[in-house]
Amino acid sequence: MITIISGTNRPNSNSLRVAKFYQNLLKNKNIDCNILPLTSLPISIYSPDFYLNPNKEFNDLQELITKTQKFIFIIPEYNGSFPGVLKTLIDVCKFPDSFDNKKCALLGIATGKYGNIRGVEHFTGIAHYCGMHVLPLKLHIPAIHNELNENGDFFNEKTLKFINEQVNKFVEF
Ligand SMILES: Cc1cc2nc3c(=O)[nH]c(=O)nc-3n(C[C@H](O)[C@H](O)[C@H](O)COP(=O)(O)O)c2cc1C
Repeated sequence: MITIISGTNRPNSNSLRVAKFYQNLLKNKNIDCNILPLTSLPISIYSPDFYLNPNKEFNDLQELITKTQKFIFIIPEYNGSFPGVLKTLIDVCKFPDSFDNKKCALLGIATGKYGNIRGVEHFTGIAHYCGMHVLPLKLHIPAIHNELNENGDFFNEKTLKFINEQVNKFVEF
């Protein structure tokens, strides 16, 4: 099972648009995958009580994570790194079963110039710590606001070339 994690809980995010674009690319190759937008995380996971009593509201998402063998993480740049809510997801998931020995591809997006190079590197360290195999081709898309059309699709030829290359490598990975 493949799951695309859209790495923010910001409503109307570009990360979710990108996640849907990747889902369609895989669908065109007859590969089904789920999207987990972090807007769907239950509020209870942010409570200190969650560490004492992990509650049932997170069970379905934990099950989805547990069943997933390959992840695509869409990682927006927030203050020079990845969003805290993405780390919170990792922290509330069961360790080590959730991510150990699984595979992932990483894509950084940002309004700014560098496409979240630093945040993707930070996340790579955590992915490795959790036992994940990270696809060596990591993408970084700067000026994301200029890259998506009104349907939320990429249209720039060069960007599409890199995205297709990453998706093809991810399928073989
Ligand atoms: C809290 C916050 C911090 C941000 N920090 C940065 C930043 O450090 N560098 C940058 O290029 N863009 C930054 N952005 C802009 C995001 O990269 C931009 O919103 C982009 O569309 C990806 O995030 P999204 O999925 O929330 O839309 C920030 C956005 C938010 C909401």
